[in-house]
Parts: sequence; structure tokens; C-alpha cells
Amino acid sequence: MNPNNFYGNNAGSDFHSIINPNLGGNGNAGANNSSTAATPDNGVPSPSFIPPQPQRYPQQPAESYTPQYRESVPAQQFQQPMQQTQFQSQPQQPRQFAVEAIDLVKDYGTGENVVHALRNVNVGFEKGKFTAIMGPSGSGKSTMMHTLAGLDSVTSGKVILGGQDITKMNDNQLTMLRRNEIGFIFQSFNLLPMFTAEQNILMPLTLAGTKADRKWFNTLVETLGLTQRLKHRPNELSGGQQQRVAIARALISKPQVVFADEPTGNLDSVSSAEVLSFLKRSVREFGQTVVMVTHDAVAASYADRAIVFADGRIVADEQHPTAEHMSDLLMKESERAARQSAAPTMDQLMNGKPRHAQVVK
Ligand SMILES: Nc1ncnc2c1ncn2[C@@H]1O[C@H](COP(=O)(O)OP(=O)(O)OP(=O)(O)O)[C@@H](O)[C@H]1O
Ligand SMILES: [Mg+2]
Repeated sequence: MNPNNFYGNNAGSDFHSIINPNLGGNGNAGANNSSTAATPDNGVPSPSFIPPQPQRYPQQPAESYTPQYRESVPAQQFQQPMQQTQFQSQPQQPRQFAVEAIDLVKDYGTGENVVHALRNVNVGFEKGKFTAIMGPSGSGKSTMMHTLAGLDSVTSGKVILGGQDITKMNDNQLTMLRRNEIGFIFQSFNLLPMFTAEQNILMPLTLAGTKADRKWFNTLVETLGLTQRLKHRPNELSGGQQQRVAIARALISKPQVVFADEPTGNLDSVSSAEVLSFLKRSVREFGQTVVMVTHDAVAASYADRAIVFADGRIVADEQHPTAEHMSDLLMKESERAARQSAAPTMDQLMNGKPRHAQVVK
């Protein structure tokens, strides 16, 4: 899915199309009749600018929506066989998962062209923990995040978020889920260029027709050092500042879980350290759950746990990762993958032709 579509239908750079998700009977139809001029200069949307309160999933009053976490499932059930011995030594205590994948399969394409992006992945992400996801390019990290966040459909399996199997939700419910329960931070920041930092931060609430908790807003902008930048548009901000705005936007609705797909991929080392420190603080101080994809072993060392993907599977799951250990693990994994790709296939062995014996003329 196009990241611009995270908060609504084909948002692109057009805010009107975001506030009118036009997703069939959620009461938002016609919301794009309002003019952007209804957004005053102070950045706080005026009441006429705020679309009607959409129906909240799962079709019950917001206050009755109490997440039911699976508390009694042993951790081992959610891990892959490769790591079994390690996991078996962990104490069997109940865990609270903010989000979990059960037998998750994602294929792209069909027949000869099928790509197995996720192969039966089982994993739970504990509430109030910071988890890093690592692995080679093409190993399925983004696919994993997108399916967990309801941005992409699954081929089979379940994603349980806040006690609900989100793979059963329709598009409208998924849009509401993303606005209310999920924060997503993209590598490319994905801010709306014509709106100020403050308007961008408040966007999920504006779309949901919910009033901002000003205290929480102030806490976020102060902690992220954005107080002096609220009236600036994205092109007037540095990359680090834009990513901090994107973090505030991801956290403003106090979501169940924040996903970050290579959030420091476009940042210099100083800005990266700021962003990672804040993500860590959001977990420590605000009890946020964060799942972050990164290629950087140093970035992974900010997390409480690091998972390594290879070829659509989890091949390692480490608590308290250090940069050195993750570098070693990734090195070993890439060596293993290289050996595997260099190994002759069964067909080649049977026919006595090693794979690399073919000469290109
Ligand atoms: N929309 C798509 N259509 C077809 N194949 C896809 C699609 N999206 C991803 N894939 C394939 O699925 C596999 C997993 O891709 P994914 O983007 O999840 O990898 P990744 O681990 O995030 O890689 P990177 O580190 O390069 O971002 C890859 O082989 C990729 O080519
Ligand atoms: Mg990716």
C-alpha cells in the first residue's frame, strides 16, 4: 500500500481526500465539502473543519473498547523452531501482547511468479517494549510491519491487535484502526507538505474528529524539541525535525503500538540518535509499544529485543541486543544465505552440472 494512504483513502498530498475516506457508510461522506481555509493559522482545526466522528471499530462505543490481551499463552508458542532451545530456557510467565502474528503467511503474485514474503510467522510483541526487526533486504521486514498495521492484506493467518483479529476487518474498519490504534513512522517521513508541523501532528485526531489532549500534545512537542517549529511547513524543517514531527504524529493518539520502518534511514548520525533516544523514552516513560525495522545494528541496540528475519522467517530472537552481537548475527546470516545461494540445486547435482559452471556467452 502507498504510505500516503495510511490515514485514509488515497490521501496523496491532498488533505481533502484524506478527510473523505469515502469508504462506505462511515458518516464521513461529504466531509471534503469543507474548505482548507477552515483551518486557522494557529494550526488547530476549527470545528467546521473537523469531519463527523466516524464509527469506531469494532462497532461499539469507544469507552467500551477495552483491549483483551492473550495473557495466558506461553511465549514459546510464538517462536520459531530454529530458536527452540533458547526459548525453552525462558521462564513461562504470562505475557501481554500489544500485537501478535499467528501463522502469518503473505505471498505476492501467483504461480511461477509467486514470492513468499512471509512464511508462517508466529510472533508476539509485548506491551511497553521496544523491538527491533532486522534482516537482509527482501527478507520480509516491511511486509511484516505492513500486515501487522493493517496496511496490507494477508494470504493466511491472523494478526491480533487489541484483542481483535484485524485480518477480518473491512477497509473502513482498518482505516479507523490505523487512525486510532496504530502509529506509523516511515523512512521518508511522509508529512503533508502544505500543512504546518502542528497540523501534521494533529492530523490523525482531525481525521477522527477527536479533540487533542493539549497536555499530551505539549509533552510531545516539548520532549521532541519542536516547540519553536510548530508553525513551519515540512520544507522549512531539517530531516531530523521532520522525522520528529512524524514521531509526534504517530504518538498523538496514544496508539496501542507504533511501527517504524527504518525511521533513521534518511537521517545523519546525530539526528538518528535523537530519534532513537526518543523512541526509547516513549517506551520507558509513556509505556508505548514500539516495533522498528532497521538495518543498523547500533539502532537495534536501543531496543529491548531484536528479531532477525531471513527469507520470510524469523531466524533469531534476541533479548537486550548489543550492536556487536547483532552485527555478528547479521554477518553470519548473510554468510549462510550466500552459501545457500551458491549451493548446487538437487537438479544440478543429479545432472552433474554445478550451478556456476554455466558460462554466459
Ligand atoms: N507489492 C509487492 N509485489 C510483489 N512482491 C513484493 C511486493 N512487496 C514486496 N514484495 C517482495 O516481498 C519480499 C519481501 O519484501 P519486503 O519489502 O518485505 O522486504 P524488506 O525486508 O523490507 O526489504 P528492505 O530491507 O529492502 O526494505 C521481497 O522479495 C519483495 O520483492
Ligand atoms: Mg523494507
